[in-house]
Amino acid sequence: MVNKITVVGAGNVGATTAQRIAEKELARSVVMVDIADGIPQGKGLDQWESAPIELFDSRVTGSTGYETSAGSDVVVITAGIARKPGMSRDDLLNTNAGIVKSCAEQVKATSPNAIVIVVSNPLDVMCYVAKEVTGFPRERVIGMAGILDTARFRSFIAEKLDVSVRDIQAMVLGGHGDTMVPLISYTSISGIPITQFLTAEELAPLVDRARNGGAEIVKYLKTGSAYYAPSSGAVQIVEAIVNDQKRILPCSAWLEGEYGMKGLYLGVPCKLGRKGLEKVVEIDLSADEKAALAKSADAVREPMSVVKL
Ligand code: NAI
Ligand code: 2OP
Repeated sequence: MVNKITVVGAGNVGATTAQRIAEKELARSVVMVDIADGIPQGKGLDQWESAPIELFDSRVTGSTGYETSAGSDVVVITAGIARKPGMSRDDLLNTNAGIVKSCAEQVKATSPNAIVIVVSNPLDVMCYVAKEVTGFPRERVIGMAGILDTARFRSFIAEKLDVSVRDIQAMVLGGHGDTMVPLISYTSISGIPITQFLTAEELAPLVDRARNGGAEIVKYLKTGSAYYAPSSGAVQIVEAIVNDQKRILPCSAWLEGEYGMKGLYLGVPCKLGRKGLEKVVEIDLSADEKAALAKSADAVREPMSVVKL
């Protein structure tokens, strides 16, 4: 348990993230910050009133300012607008860049030692904005997307084969977008290669569904995007950091030469512990996987080159 965790943005992803953090008692104090007056305060109070039933002692509060959030150990940024039907993640670019910029400035001023986990979309570019604005080292600015994309892929495999999600290992790398790269060669069920269960033809629709997993939920919800699985993904990172778990999870990290790339955020296997990003783990990739990762990097560089900081 750490002393304080702040969740910026008390919308669908943010509020669910705060609730999961409190229920897992990852911090003594959980603070939600949002510009919509009444929302963070009301949701914070409501969550705190569930504590005697859910049995957690994390004190949840909400605020429109950053005073109560000062000195946070971890800050999760979920502020921004979400996708509506027909919108791509990149449609959100400059609106969310302005929002993430203002949040990152406040985080820098009030929680200068925090580890920042970015969720706002377009994810890989928003991580870049947060890193540039805070000036924090790459160890302390990490993006959540690969865990979500991988969880979707794992859930579809479990459904198809009627096996436990627990036994499915997989890794989806690349940018959080249509060019994400599910690694079939590293997908297994209790260590047994997935190719012993499914043919390439059977796997293709599952890969495709994972790639379009965000849009599938937006189409159902109509007025917003996914938040149960995304908040689970964000909290898995928080938990790995707070409990110094040394987990290796697919996260968006600032590359400094790994995979032959530098100067961008991209989804790669990351070792996470109390210091945040402790290592970008480099794994062998096939020629096709390398090409797909390079294409995904290009899809991140393009919006990155035009984003207004
Ligand atoms: P939402 O609309 O429910 O909540 C967003 C909240 O941000 C609102 O309450 C709004 O008042 C607040 N906000 C706006 N400007 C702010 C500011 N300057 N400071 C503080 N709060 C501010 O949206 P939702 O569903 O919670 O999604 C949030 C973001 O997360 C979106 O950008 C969405 O695309 C992204 N997302 C990313 C995922 C990923 O895998 N990385 C998965 C799901 C969502
Ligand atoms: C998702 O993948 C919208 O990025 C969000 O659900």
